[in-house]
Amino acid sequence: MKTVYIGMSADLLHPGHLNIIEKAREIGDEIIVGLLTDKAIASYKRLPYMSWEQRKIVVENVKGVTKVVPQETLDYVPNLLRLKPDYVLHGDDWKTGPQQETRQRVIEVMKQWGGQVIDIPYTEGISSSALNQALKSIGTTPAIRAMRLKRLIENKEIVTICEAHNGLSALIVENASVKENGKKLEFDGIWLSSLTQSAAKAKPDIGYLDTTSRTDVLNDILEVTTKPIIYDADSGGPTEHFVFTVRSLERLGVSAVIIEDKIGLKRNSLFGTEVEQTQDTIPNFCQKIKAGHAARVTDTFMIIARIESLILNAGMEDAIARAKAYLEAGADGIMIHSRKTDGEEIKEFCRLYNQLPNRKPLVVVPSAYNHIYESELAELGVNIVIYANQLLRAAYPAMMNAATSILQHHRAKEASDDFCMKLKDIITLIPGSC
Ligand code: SPV
Ligand code: MG
Repeated sequence: MKTVYIGMSADLLHPGHLNIIEKAREIGDEIIVGLLTDKAIASYKRLPYMSWEQRKIVVENVKGVTKVVPQETLDYVPNLLRLKPDYVLHGDDWKTGPQQETRQRVIEVMKQWGGQVIDIPYTEGISSSALNQALKSIGTTPAIRAMRLKRLIENKEIVTICEAHNGLSALIVENASVKENGKKLEFDGIWLSSLTQSAAKAKPDIGYLDTTSRTDVLNDILEVTTKPIIYDADSGGPTEHFVFTVRSLERLGVSAVIIEDKIGLKRNSLFGTEVEQTQDTIPNFCQKIKAGHAARVTDTFMIIARIESLILNAGMEDAIARAKAYLEAGADGIMIHSRKTDGEEIKEFCRLYNQLPNRKPLVVVPSAYNHIYESELAELGVNIVIYANQLLRAAYPAMMNAATSILQHHRAKEASDDFCMKLKDIITLIPGSC
């Protein structure tokens, strides 16, 4: 009785996977697939399209597979020590690149009981990343997109969200990525900021843009992206309006709305007490949260309550009291905002918040205290970090540079050479251009 162990994600099962399982059937009697959990996959690349349970159903029905077990980390060793298989099979692509080390560890541990590692020649003509790209271009559905935020919160140390204010900037949030130690890092989702959406239309952030014009931009963004969306609804307006906003956003596949506990003419929080801003009462705001909840169709859609106590110098005690009350009213998460640059009050809030018995996901927007790394925020218990305005702030000076260069030189050559992307790149930038 020979046992074979195969580790895989199996999100997009293709002939490469089946080839490895076929080889396993030739040499083994029992074929165990160590199916990487969502958490294990999210630790080095994009969250899989299918949940672990969905992938399990697919894999356990593949001819030859006798058992599917969770592989909780990228490291095979814990599962191998427990199962002591005779063979581990893997595509030979892991002999080079970042997976080399994993392979070496597998070889070492298998020696303990005389087990063997077999590298199966890579199947040409098929690649998971090409399939992923193809899936991306097919797009997504409102329900699948909406679910992704909760799945990300469950499976990532910290979820990273970046602002977009039109279709083009949303494409950047969708596609920007960097490689780091064999991991592929990308933003997890998109923030529909009231500040940058207003600024992109050269309007002040005072709640002047109505929901119709905001959802127009949202539609442009939905059309070219697949990542989950968090919508900044300011105060949500009167409760009678907020319930309609909830319905519209949920219907479109937005994952979460954030409403702030302020009343009166909206002012950007980063002004703090320099301008007149009034905080809502706790009972009023709780009532708005409850009405929003009653209006939504499914509990996939999250209503996140944003606390402005620190912005308005109302104190830490008030901030925590509000967090408690809003959670009791049913908020699906809390956003705490601060405009202090040292980040100390945010850290203190996090510590106190973590002690609340009904704690739910915590969101922060480190625009002022931007020196704090994501890892430190994660350690403080933060679940979602929102980079709320950086893309627009980067775009404005870049455009101003190009404009002043043309004026200074009485021609566009310098601007084109120094500040602009190539003409041929802009005409092909948008999918479907040619
Ligand atoms: C936004 O991005 O519009 C926000 C965050 O609400 S802040 O501008 O800091 O208030
Ligand atoms: Mg805003």
